[in-house]
Amino acid sequence: MRYPPIVPRFPHILHGGDYNPDQWLRWKDTIWKEDMRLVRLAGVNSLTVGIFSWTALEPREGEYRFEWLDEVMDMLAANGMAAVLATPSGAKPAWMSRKYPEILRVNDRRQRNLHGERHNHCLSSPVYRQKVTAINTRLAERYRNHPALGVWHISNEYGGECHCPLCQERFRAWLKARYQTLDALNEAWWTAFWSHTYSDWEEIESPSPLGENGLHGLKLDWRRFTSEQFVDFYLHETAPLKKITPDVPCTTNLMGTYPGIDYFRLAEVLDVASWDSYPQWTGVDDTGLGARTAFMHDLTRSLKDKPFMLMESSPSATNWRPVAKLHRPNVHMLQSMQAVAHGADTVQYFQYRKSRGGPEKFHGAIIDHEGSEHTRVFRDAAAVGERLKGMDAIVGADTPARTAIIYDWQVRWSLDDVKGLLQDKTNYEETVIGHHRAFWKLGIATDIIDSTRSFDKYDVLIAPMLYMLRPGVAERIDAFVERGGTFVATYVTGYADEHDLTHLGGFPGPLRKTLGIWCEEIDALFPGDENSIVWAGKPYRVFDLCELIHGEGAETLAAYGGDFYAGEPALTVNRRGKGKAYFIAARSGDDLLDDFYGMIARDAGLERAVEGPLPWGVSARVRDNGEQKFLFVMNFTHEPKELTIAQGEKMSLAPFETKIVER
Ligand code: GLA
Ligand code: ZN
Repeated sequence: MRYPPIVPRFPHILHGGDYNPDQWLRWKDTIWKEDMRLVRLAGVNSLTVGIFSWTALEPREGEYRFEWLDEVMDMLAANGMAAVLATPSGAKPAWMSRKYPEILRVNDRRQRNLHGERHNHCLSSPVYRQKVTAINTRLAERYRNHPALGVWHISNEYGGECHCPLCQERFRAWLKARYQTLDALNEAWWTAFWSHTYSDWEEIESPSPLGENGLHGLKLDWRRFTSEQFVDFYLHETAPLKKITPDVPCTTNLMGTYPGIDYFRLAEVLDVASWDSYPQWTGVDDTGLGARTAFMHDLTRSLKDKPFMLMESSPSATNWRPVAKLHRPNVHMLQSMQAVAHGADTVQYFQYRKSRGGPEKFHGAIIDHEGSEHTRVFRDAAAVGERLKGMDAIVGADTPARTAIIYDWQVRWSLDDVKGLLQDKTNYEETVIGHHRAFWKLGIATDIIDSTRSFDKYDVLIAPMLYMLRPGVAERIDAFVERGGTFVATYVTGYADEHDLTHLGGFPGPLRKTLGIWCEEIDALFPGDENSIVWAGKPYRVFDLCELIHGEGAETLAAYGGDFYAGEPALTVNRRGKGKAYFIAARSGDDLLDDFYGMIARDAGLERAVEGPLPWGVSARVRDNGEQKFLFVMNFTHEPKELTIAQGEKMSLAPFETKIVER
């Protein structure tokens, strides 16, 4: 199947990145001209402009200067490029902070920021909202018919939170709408604990290290509220754009699994998902990082369930990692092709030209301070540009998957708060990535969804550590199994409801019948301690968390090898309706997950991207446009690899090489 291109009149993979010509206003006769000469040599067909341009666009209140941006947009159009045009709200002018201190963000210790840096405005401030509307309206009116305008880039990397009085007021209003009565809120937050019952809405304050920081219901709701603040602010920012340029898609650049915003919620209002990917490749065996980055791409794609944008990546080192190691040969190509393999229809960088001053002057860029096309990094980018030119058939191509893995922001939030059994061992993100890695190694495509998404298109559903069951989720999982699906759950499933109140009547709560087990206790192991799961005579190491379960209809596939629960069930399957529900009771290494998911894949008849086994560090993905299938095979190690992609068809890969073949 084939989705329409992100920019309707531009059916090519976008290649380019963040470009800050406003840092070079005095140099436009030389630097801007060079920049345009070099786009052709680099195969760049898109640039992202205006991200941090508020002072260049409105140097004094109400005094707008669009002439420079007109020129930039015209240059982009003259060079056949699509502009990703940003709204400037990510960083505000100093005059604004000085005149309207209410726009400055307040931290959880109730200290108001001074002016500076970026991403530090209050989302509730009516003044800030007015200013944003004013500038966004002008941008949209000015460029509504501009031939370069391709995509709106809303603000930049939304994040953080504000605890100012305006935000407290909005938080209380949001809570009132959610709970209606204080009684309902007190019950949901279990405030009778330590005598925390509220008697008036005005007593409620956002969580703070100086005040209330232990009520899990409050903390969860604060995170939900903060997510809603971003959704609301995004809708506010895009309102004029949607009115004036209804056909131009809008996005905001996300950050993988950034914990502060429920991205599945935010994605509901985006037209296309985009994200900023900065793996620090070691240049040696990057298998683990390759798998991790694959997870992030799968997650971002799944947010809108269609091709996404790789909005930023570094063409070389970053400026913010402890070690700014250079990309080894082939690595730039590999990271770019990996994104496309997982469904990106763009390869964009931070940044096109290195800035001359400020903290990002040593961040990787296509154009170095040296200024010419004669650098290794430029040649690497140009090689990507050249290859992407031949990939128009991949634009909009699907990445079909029959398996979904649940990664749920709200589960993560609740797990982050658990005291006791999980202390320092939660590792929710790494756990989910571990389950995903098993499929990555098998060459089986997976979507990453949260528990609120539909399970309809899947045959296999994996839900590691699904601690919190939001309303209706258990019922939907049960229906999924009944209709023939294969479901996999693990330790720490079904402990709590959406308020983080525990389920009464035995864990895994409402999934007890589906899984056919009862989890009576959970044993937390000391660091370095281990037990084992013995499956088909083979012992697998387990550590951190071991749940003590009883079969209640489920068949035991494997049992614990040691301790006082030796011989008790540790891996079970419950046949229910036409499907099966598996339970893994303890945390293991990759060996158990690899063997287990190998069995699941065979049993469910999941298609693998290549026929032969994938050698260590090699990944394979398919994009399918309905007529042609493109197989991407990628080597994430510094060693050459050989594999069989189909009967009698062998392939060899140089270190970090990517090959793409049409099937
Ligand atoms: C983020 C930001 C960019 C830039 C890069 C540097 O992703 O969005 O503006 O600061 O980091 O890696
Ligand atoms: Zn605020």
